[in-house]
Amino acid sequence: MIRITLACETDIKGWRDASRDLLLRAVPPEQVEWNVAGSGGGLFADEGDPLPPERRETVTIAKELLRDVQTVLLHRDPERFALAYRIVHRAQDEPKLHRNPADPDMHRLRGLAKSVRRDIHKMHAFVRFRTIGTSEDGREQFVAWFEPDHHITEAVAPFFRDRFTGMNWLIVTPEAGIAWDGEALRTGPGGRKSDVPQEDAVEAEWKSYYGAIFNPARLKTKAMMAEMPAKYWKNLPEAALIPALTRAAETRMNAMIDKNDEETPAVKDVAVPACAQDRYTALDQLYDALRGANDYPAEGFSDRLVPGAGPDNAPLMFVGEQPGDQEDQAGQPFVGPAGQLLDRAMAAASVDRQGAFITNAVKRFKFVQRGQRRIHSKPSNDDIEYYRWWLDQERRLVDPRVVVALGATAARALTGKTLTISRNRGQLMDYLGGSKLLITVHPSYLLRLPDGAGQKVEYEKFVRDLSLAREAMAG
Ligand code: URA
Repeated sequence: MIRITLACETDIKGWRDASRDLLLRAVPPEQVEWNVAGSGGGLFADEGDPLPPERRETVTIAKELLRDVQTVLLHRDPERFALAYRIVHRAQDEPKLHRNPADPDMHRLRGLAKSVRRDIHKMHAFVRFRTIGTSEDGREQFVAWFEPDHHITEAVAPFFRDRFTGMNWLIVTPEAGIAWDGEALRTGPGGRKSDVPQEDAVEAEWKSYYGAIFNPARLKTKAMMAEMPAKYWKNLPEAALIPALTRAAETRMNAMIDKNDEETPAVKDVAVPACAQDRYTALDQLYDALRGANDYPAEGFSDRLVPGAGPDNAPLMFVGEQPGDQEDQAGQPFVGPAGQLLDRAMAAASVDRQGAFITNAVKRFKFVQRGQRRIHSKPSNDDIEYYRWWLDQERRLVDPRVVVALGATAARALTGKTLTISRNRGQLMDYLGGSKLLITVHPSYLLRLPDGAGQKVEYEKFVRDLSLAREAMAG
């Protein structure tokens, strides 16, 4: 028996990675036992037979099936991981399985997916916010309590962000807290109904609530920083508490796991570890894992991966949209017409291309075939979302001082937001790991401009943006 322990109840990525490995090794579902760790991190296989050597070349799962499987992984049923693996295992030899609603496994999967979707709809409809005053910058602040049936809290956060963009809000559930401050979504620990102010609360109460629910065992500094750069903390009354709580977190966590310690967190200790998946220590390892991932959006894409190119410790990183036809064939980013323009502009801005790391938000070429030609097709938001995590891992490994987003796709992939390039370009913004982010246009945009004065002006602005990135890198 092979036992797989996932990092937490919502460790969907852990399930996907483990399932891919198991499928490649053709491990039958009866030989796998799925668990969720009570503490400690990561994903591991333990106790039992060693994993058999890899056998299958590739793993395929229909997009439609994958969508249902991912939904079901949010269900509370402890059998969901096993059911999902059994189905994807069967799907390797039964490619039409997902079209057979009479199949008992599919019937069960559909039933569970339906109840997760119903729960999501309920949460969308029935969350009720209470006002708790205004933040220092005058934004109204709201809090709500909700008890979902399944592990959906983090999954619904984008819905509330899009629906209630103009206010600061926090939704507390027993399992997780999600918050929006007008700039970034954050996830944190869960709480109790009694923790949420029943009447409109004063700020002091609000702060003490926030301090009380701040369970250090759930502290995800990286995720928190990724979602909410420190410069935004000032907008929230509870933000004043964050630095001290963060500093104290390690000590408090040690104290919590020490059985002799009397300190009990003010809320139920859900003991869910951070699901941080920073497992890769080298770029090649990361790209191999991405090549082996079975869940990437395959429809309309080349199956070749185009990895980033350049020194793995480059101080300057450029992120484009996706490889084009020529990049797909060469296996390298920015070697076609857009790449040549980028080369020219870099040279004009005294940026050394060889010293920079160049990559793309989406790592495969998306196209439509027209006769002999493969015509570029824009990646969807889902495509960008899929590769976002991988891009961030790439950034983490290279650890550049300055990241340059070339165009809207890259800007979205790097910030998680749809940004207007004209309004955000040419500014150095604080970014992850103490780096700076600079947004500019994509070189293809310049290629599309009609010849003439306008094109020249735009090109010069682009060169100025690159010069700014070089100066920031140097200084
Ligand atoms: N456009 C991009 O965004 N990336 C490439 O690699 C080539 C063209």
